[in-house]
Amino acid sequence: MALEQIRVGQDNFSYVIYCERTKKAAIVDPGFDGSVPMKAVSDRGLSLEYIINTHHHGDHTSDNQKLKDATGARIVASKIESRRIGSGVDLEVENGDTLQIGDVEVKILLTPGHTEGGISLIVDSAFLITGDTMFIGDCGRCDLPGGDIKVMFTSLQRIKGLSDDLIVYPGHDYGPIPHDALGNQKRTNKVLMAKSLEELSKI
Ligand SMILES: [Fe+2]
Repeated sequence: MALEQIRVGQDNFSYVIYCERTKKAAIVDPGFDGSVPMKAVSDRGLSLEYIINTHHHGDHTSDNQKLKDATGARIVASKIESRRIGSGVDLEVENGDTLQIGDVEVKILLTPGHTEGGISLIVDSAFLITGDTMFIGDCGRCDLPGGDIKVMFTSLQRIKGLSDDLIVYPGHDYGPIPHDALGNQKRTNKVLMAKSLEELSKI
């Protein structure tokens, strides 16, 4: 297990990705209270290398700087989201890029639609962190600035093309369960089941 899901705020999820051998770690989306995922990092004796933001919204980024100041970790975001994140992003990533956290490989998948440059993360070909692109049973809203349902449809199709065995870890605890196999979501999640933009728009 190289991933820990941590509930923060009302219904947000932060994540700790870590390598057991090298003790290197990354925190994904430190919104609300970054001290909670940071405690998980400290309790496991890990050193924080990266702070990764799936997108720029404050509930996913508000404790970026606090964690960076405390640890010297580098903030990572897509080029588009980086412009909107208040604290300085150190590393801009693009679709297909990989980040190495010790032995753990994190692949960047561009999945805009909720925001203009949102990313999902494929961790060790086993876990899929979706941010606010997709939740268990739903997808993120597309009516905020930078949101676009047409773009969201394309991103959902991209996710639909991934392996059934990936376990989906979303940005919010909106579903009946906190995570689920992508194969199961393909069969049950209405937004993944939508075969056309028109169908998605009606949901
Ligand atoms: Fe969001």
